[in-house]
Amino acid sequence: CGIVGVTGNDRSVSILIDGLKRLEYRGYDSAGIYVNDEKGHDYLVKRSGRISNLEAALTPEVKGLAGIGHTRWATHGVPSETNAHPHYSNDERFYLVHNGVIENYQQLKEEYLKGVEFKSQTDTEVIVQLVDKFVVDYKMDTKDALLKVLRLISPDSSYAFALMDREQPDTLFVAKNKSPLLVGLCQGYNMVGSDAMSMIDETNEFMEINDHELVIVKPDNVTIEEFDGTEKKRDSFKVDMDPSAADKGTYPFYMLKEIDEQPAVMRKLVQEYFDSDDQPQISEKLLQAMAESDHIYIIGAGTSYHAGLIGARMFEKLCGVPTTVHISSEFAYEQPLLSQKPFFLFLSQSGETADSREVLVHVNEHNWPSLTITNVDKSTLSREATFTLLLYAGPEIAVASTKAYTAQIAVEAILAKALGEYLSRDAAQNFDLKHQLGTIANGMQSITDSKEDIEALASRYLSKPRNAFYIGRGIDWSVSLEAALKLKEISYVQAEGFASGELKHGTIALIENQTPVIAIITQDRTAGLTRSNLEETQSRGAAVLTIVSRHLAHEDDNIIIPDVDELLTPLLSVVPAQLLAYYTSLGKGLDVDKPRNLAKSVTVQ
Ligand code: G6P
Repeated sequence: CGIVGVTGNDRSVSILIDGLKRLEYRGYDSAGIYVNDEKGHDYLVKRSGRISNLEAALTPEVKGLAGIGHTRWATHGVPSETNAHPHYSNDERFYLVHNGVIENYQQLKEEYLKGVEFKSQTDTEVIVQLVDKFVVDYKMDTKDALLKVLRLISPDSSYAFALMDREQPDTLFVAKNKSPLLVGLCQGYNMVGSDAMSMIDETNEFMEINDHELVIVKPDNVTIEEFDGTEKKRDSFKVDMDPSAADKGTYPFYMLKEIDEQPAVMRKLVQEYFDSDDQPQISEKLLQAMAESDHIYIIGAGTSYHAGLIGARMFEKLCGVPTTVHISSEFAYEQPLLSQKPFFLFLSQSGETADSREVLVHVNEHNWPSLTITNVDKSTLSREATFTLLLYAGPEIAVASTKAYTAQIAVEAILAKALGEYLSRDAAQNFDLKHQLGTIANGMQSITDSKEDIEALASRYLSKPRNAFYIGRGIDWSVSLEAALKLKEISYVQAEGFASGELKHGTIALIENQTPVIAIITQDRTAGLTRSNLEETQSRGAAVLTIVSRHLAHEDDNIIIPDVDELLTPLLSVVPAQLLAYYTSLGKGLDVDKPRNLAKSVTVQ
């Protein structure tokens, strides 16, 4: 979910709506705003579905000087207008938006709110009713009531809250634990938002909020205090972002624009990370911290986890450092036996994924060195890790990640080359990465130039079946996991990425007449074997398709990709798979950029 708030501006409704649109990547199953002014007027508008539904429901009379807004990705309670935020107390005095999960809300409800009628099934309503109870029944002032509630919330809960009290209309009461929240400092008014981008049309100056702080935001000042009342001073920071970079231009969907941007991202990475002698530019401190470690643990979720699978091979082959990759939500609760000197590498496009952040909190408790590779400068995972490397991919808006995946792989390659050279490894010294990335940019371009062919293949092979397989070995298998994820996410074809040699040990039972099986073949050592496995499926009726490196291609292969270093083939082989998913979704008339049930960044565990 995403939250935004503003105080001290008569454009508050449009500021909230613009902010929510920029936060839609965090969920889009319902949305709402609450605004008020000094004269006692206030308005609450909520709608299920997209922000555009909410916007359409706003009449000219809905205006105010301060307000809060929310876009939801349902956790507790189905997506509906009633369960949409802001939630409010029964006396309609307090209004609350919340991103996160209150783990002990049932217990709080039973202990303090017996007999209180609830309108929704959400954990959030319990919090706002509880604040009201402490204010009305216990005669506490709002700040103390909120502090009391915050202390009652179990520590495993996550929240970013913005609370408004009708009787103090210019004040936003704000607090967070685990979930992200920033203050935006504007000229004569102030804001809060889940990320910097949600406030970028109004300001580029922000102030961090730490876990377990209560922040009071008024039009002309911001005060921060810890739960025990100690006041904190905090410097602001500036972020350099171009709000127009997030425009769709003439493209029908962001996803296609982002697929097409991949060659430019590769070139940008060469520009940002290489000097004129073709040497990768990575800070010595980071290389030293990595060189001193005996094992790299890569942590990520979804597509970022898949990019980690490719990176691990690079750190092992180019640097000789043992590297393992872990799904963040698993690692957080099933930590393997760690090496003596672990180094943690977080991959996160958004830098906000709660599952990954949970691991980082633990890593920081042990003072282990860490690096976040992210697309979003000053995002939570970037601020909290020891080091950051940026992806320079520009805003990625489509829920299905494309250019961030390839940028992550390229940055991992740059880092692996730099570290390998730092460790004087021959494999890294002989790895002609800068030149290869240029070849890859051109190769990506040639694949995206043949969109029509790929669209025809999607329509012929993938428009009807309910399920499909991507298969490959080694690095091609890792890409097949990402390729299958793309197809699942946006076209709802149940797709599986599979190790092609393992297919015959069970899964081949699923192959029926015309089941699509797409093989990725880019590695000399395994090409023949994967082809045999593909034939095994074909002789059982599968409709087979191939994505093959040029020097390994046969006459009847379907998609031929240019030859590049074997460690870098994922940067090319994934592109046709992205396009196959895109055109399958498009052909079915689905909302490519905003598939059902998903969010771009999931900020709850
Ligand atoms: C969500 C998105 C995925 C993404 C994953 C990790 O589930 O839908 O596309 O890969 O989060 O996101 P991150 O921002 O940490 O890379």
